Amino acid sequence: MQRVSWLLDEIHRLKEERHAIILAHNYQPDEIQDIADITGDSLELSRAAATMEGDVIVFCGVDFMAETAAIISPEKTVLLPAPDAGCPMAEMISADELKFAKSRHPDAAVVCYVNTTAEVKAVSDICCTSSNAVKVVNSLKEDQVIFVPDRNLALYTQRFTKKEILPWEGFCRVHDRITADHVRRARDLHPGAIVLVHPECRPEVIDLADHVASTSGIIRLVCELPDEEFIIGTEIGILHRLKKECPTKNCYPLSSGAICTNMKKTDLTKVRQALIDLQPRITVPEEIANRARRAIERMLAV
Ligand code: 13P
Ligand code: SF4
Repeated sequence: MQRVSWLLDEIHRLKEERHAIILAHNYQPDEIQDIADITGDSLELSRAAATMEGDVIVFCGVDFMAETAAIISPEKTVLLPAPDAGCPMAEMISADELKFAKSRHPDAAVVCYVNTTAEVKAVSDICCTSSNAVKVVNSLKEDQVIFVPDRNLALYTQRFTKKEILPWEGFCRVHDRITADHVRRARDLHPGAIVLVHPECRPEVIDLADHVASTSGIIRLVCELPDEEFIIGTEIGILHRLKKECPTKNCYPLSSGAICTNMKKTDLTKVRQALIDLQPRITVPEEIANRARRAIERMLAV
């Protein structure tokens, strides 16, 4: 306990000294969410990285998120305290594979989920996140869209557009493991509870849900809806923010096994060390960053 309070004081002191801001994703460990200046979903954190003042961004999340911050704020030092925190879904497509898909569908626009490498963003027309995928797709003039890499988000988006979406076969292991049986069992256990799921879930899970939203969208719904009980179909780190922001509501995980191990690699010791060393620093080669920035900025303008 004493060590934790010493670590917290140290992080606070170093943060001031470095003019640093700490951004944390909604899936981060509780103690990391508690020290963050902003906790949010991918879109909110991208916007914060683009607009917040400071010389250093400590990105508590996974690598594609820190890379996105480094691309849109090249003048800031972007740190990823847990350098091995990756997103396996982002590794399910390479720039060469995407270029090949583009050559097969030359008239299609390419929408890449923000959960991709900078190289993939650099060969895409526009980025999207789970909170704006439908809006992004419907903003395009093309009638056909190559949507990478999340198949489930692509299929979810297809429900709200007349355009033809060509989904890539990627998926998130955490969300794709949630089944329709999980929903049925949770409803049996908590009759009357509202089921909220992330669009990275399978179509049959989405069919059984009451609402589908990004991580911050789920938090907003729990706070705003008049209901008292909710079943939450996404990574369980989100329950901490739900407890803090909607303390009167009862939230149950749809699957208590929905844990993103990469999101849990950040800890207070690593955050302190990153602020001391200004490492591990995330940088993106300028030529790739310039092309990837176009896709991200185009999304931020939608
Ligand atoms: P959000 O943008 O909804 O926070 O989702 C990010 C993510 O990685 C979900 O698995
Ligand atoms: Fe990637 Fe899934 Fe973890 Fe999100 S929850 S960072 S999509 S592995």
